[in-house]
Formats: sequence, C-alpha cells, structure tokens
Amino acid sequence: MNTSALEAKQLWRTYQRGSETIHALADFNLTVQPGEMVGIVGRSGSGKTTFLNQAGCLDRPTRGSVIITGTDITALPEPQLVSFRRDYIGFIFQLFYLLPTLTVAENVALPLLFASRKDPQRVEELCERVGLSGKLRALPTSLDGGEMQRVAIARALVNDPKLLLADEPTGRLERKSRDAILGIFEELKQDGLAIVVATHDLEQADRCDRVVELRDGKRVFK
Ligand SMILES: Nc1ncnc2c1ncn2[C@@H]1O[C@H](COP(=O)(O)OP(=O)(O)OP(=O)(O)O)[C@@H](O)[C@H]1O
Ligand SMILES: [Mg+2]
Repeated sequence: MNTSALEAKQLWRTYQRGSETIHALADFNLTVQPGEMVGIVGRSGSGKTTFLNQAGCLDRPTRGSVIITGTDITALPEPQLVSFRRDYIGFIFQLFYLLPTLTVAENVALPLLFASRKDPQRVEELCERVGLSGKLRALPTSLDGGEMQRVAIARALVNDPKLLLADEPTGRLERKSRDAILGIFEELKQDGLAIVVATHDLEQADRCDRVVELRDGKRVFK
C-alpha cells in the first residue's frame, strides 16, 4: 500500500483572544498523496496559514493528528520534531525570508548546515534547476522577487523533503516571475513531491490537482 505524504485527521486549532474563542481550524481533514499538488483557498482568516503551520510542524494542533509519510508528528517530542521537520518538510513563504548577508548558495545551503552536512554539488544542481545558475555568489538584495522565491524554493528542497508546503508563494510576484514559479511547482510535482499551496491566486489554484476551500476553519464541500 502507498503511504500518503500527508494525512490531517480531525484537526482543530483553537486560539483564545481575551474572552473570545477562535476555531482557526475546526475538524479539518485532508489527505495528500506523493506527486499530488493540492491548493488551499479561502478568504483571509479562513485558516490556510494555520493549517500549513500544523502540517509543517511549526505549531501543534489543539486536537487531532498530522501524519507525514506514516509518522504521527503530533506525538513527537520537540527534539525529534525539529529533525523530522528538517528532513521531511520544505516550507516556502510569501516573503521569502532569505538572510540578506548570505549569498544565494549560502542561503540554499542553510538547512544542510543545521543537519551538519555539506553538499555544494547539490546546492549548485538545485540552483540550476530553479533557474539561478550564474547567481550562486549574488546577494539577495541584488535579486528581483521572482529570483528570491527561486532561492527559497531551492532552500526548501535542499534536504530532499517529501512534502512541500507553500504559503501564498506567488503573492508578491509580478506576472512573469509568477508563471515561472508555477512551472517549477509543476515539475516538482511530476517528480513525485507532494505539494500543498495556500493561495489567493486563481490561476495557481487552477493548476492544482485538487483545490480545498476553507471557511471559518472548516472544509467546504460543494
Ligand atoms: N496566533 C494567533 N492568535 C490568535 N488568533 C490567531 C492566531 N493566528 C491566527 N489566528 C486567527 O485564526 C484565524 C485563521 O487565521 P489564518 O492566518 O490561518 O488565516 P489565512 O486563511 O491564512 O488568512 P490570510 O489569507 O489572510 O493569510 C483568523 O481568525 C486569525 O485571526
Ligand atoms: Mg495566511
């Protein structure tokens, strides 16, 4: 039997704001297979980022479980969670979060450093793959938004994750860069990566295998 890349089961994330209880996720269920790209859409505040944070081990659910390639990450103690996240999950954000004083190659290599590994060849191959050959020694400040997002994608891939999570990755990009980034996502998916992407970009949603809509933390079934 194939192991799913991601299974979210009866996931709840509840926040308390003063006397108000906010169910940012309320009984959310989703399964994603390797080689599948799933879009998460929904209005601002519907729970997209909250879900990605649970799936990416950046935050723990109030209730329910997240299973990644067969491992229930909700049951992992913090130190194991950190290494699991590093080895199995790649994260891409709208604002790139590159380190401005490091070169492109050093930014991409950063997750390897945390794993006490060095692999300049892989860094170079990945940079080439996302269209950054010739920019390895450039500083992020000399890049445009599309190039910065390419660096972030290469960095997310450097530890060879099984699941790629992207939170509005094209939100800050102009059209041409955006199209290039969407093309990269499609190639990665064809290579067997499972991708979950939260987006307000209808074209990106269109290019997903499936789109899941959130409303007030709940999945909308049409
Ligand atoms: N740390 C927090 N403390 C309290 N409430 C929070 C926290 N994080 C998120 N929320 C609330 O949870 C709900 C879901 O927020 P979330 O950021 O997941 O939405 P989103 O779909 O990603 O929105 P956007 O499209 O604007 O990025 C919102 O009501 C938000 O205000
Ligand atoms: Mg969000």
